[in-house]
Amino acid sequence: MNQLKISVAGAGAMGAGIAQVAATYGHQVTLYDSFQAALDKAKPAVRKSLDKAVEKNKLTAEKADAVMSAIRFTSDLNDISGSDLFIEAIIEQIEAKQNLFYEVEKLVSDQCILATNTSSLPVIAIGSNCKNQERIIGLHFFNPPVLMQLVEVIPTFNTKAAITESCKTLMKNWGKVPVIAKDTPGFIVNRIARPYYGEALRIYEEGIAGFETIDHAMKSVGGFKMGPFELMDFIGNDINYKVTETVFGQMFYDPRYKPSITQKRLFEGKLYGRKTGKGYYNYANPSEPKPSNDEALLQSIFDRIFAMLVNEAADALMMQIASAEDIELAMTKGVNYPMGLLQWANTTGPEKVLATLQHLFEWYGEDRYRPSPLLKRVVADKTLFKTR
Ligand SMILES: NC(=O)c1ccc[n+]([C@@H]2O[C@H](COP(=O)([O-])OP(=O)(O)OC[C@H]3O[C@@H](n4cnc5c(N)ncnc54)[C@H](O)[C@@H]3O)[C@@H](O)[C@H]2O)c1
Repeated sequence: MNQLKISVAGAGAMGAGIAQVAATYGHQVTLYDSFQAALDKAKPAVRKSLDKAVEKNKLTAEKADAVMSAIRFTSDLNDISGSDLFIEAIIEQIEAKQNLFYEVEKLVSDQCILATNTSSLPVIAIGSNCKNQERIIGLHFFNPPVLMQLVEVIPTFNTKAAITESCKTLMKNWGKVPVIAKDTPGFIVNRIARPYYGEALRIYEEGIAGFETIDHAMKSVGGFKMGPFELMDFIGNDINYKVTETVFGQMFYDPRYKPSITQKRLFEGKLYGRKTGKGYYNYANPSEPKPSNDEALLQSIFDRIFAMLVNEAADALMMQIASAEDIELAMTKGVNYPMGLLQWANTTGPEKVLATLQHLFEWYGEDRYRPSPLLKRVVADKTLFKTR
């Protein structure tokens, strides 16, 4: 593989991890952060992560040292000159990202690809101050970048097809699973996964079941590794709430993405979850959760959340956000779903999913539950979702 000069901006959780991945695959990496304190934290964090890989026999000690010395930690933006690929992973703030892209364009050649790791901002807007917009693209890694395989590759209206292809190839060379997503709110994963949290919160708010029962339903009936409330506490209610709010706004307030007052209150009260000791669960003073074992209740909770997830996947497919194959890969590799949602719907029967949604739509009379036309088409034609 050709050795490239890669620069990463932002030495936080994502940037440091991306730098480590790039250096592991033989590239010279410059990790830039405007705050020296962030670099002072990132350096030992990368070392620790490499030592762990050595302990697990995933890397030799020599290779770990070589990776470490391939990363240059710097607070001087000028050090990124000569880069072939620049990946931005700074604070999730549009002006900060736009300003950085503007400055970076002055320091690199016209051949350098400019990528952003944004989770929720429009890629095209981040690069909108740049002169050459053909080389701007989203490369959305998942947390932690060293372990998670999925990378959403997000071309904009302006991105040259050859740039998208070379990013896809490069990500494959880094051992990642790249999927191509349209530059739309939440891309693939953060769009399709919204009901996992939103519908769970709605079920809780209606008093149908408590957190532990909803979590138990999704794990025991659906085989998900973590229930929605455990997962929100793990991600952080600050981050999860903000992503929901952003997607909702960017979707012109489509009620399907409406945030929940419950989660907003947790966010406002700094009950972020694991990192603050309390969220939906109390981690400082844990108690044994006692979920209901009412099988009919557990099944109905699963059916409802599952139907909403399938509806999102069907709608994303209909709206050409990504190919069916990439939608399936994104949910299995990016958030570890037990099965791709389209395949899963095919297995349980699309007509069952549609019946659940139609019942919710009629009962509540809310647009939130409107079935995707693609789901209706699949059922009307007595066919199945295409999954590749
Ligand atoms: N954390 C996640 O789960 C996750 C997943 C995928 C994508 N992302 C995205 O990746 C980006 C970084 O997220 P993170 O979790 O690593 O954040 P973080 O807060 O851990 O790190 C951000 C870093 O950027 C630095 N920074 C801030 N402003 C800067 C500037 N103007 N110039 C240079 N450096 C600056 C900060 O010092 C900090 O070290 C965000 O866009 C986020 O949306 C995060």
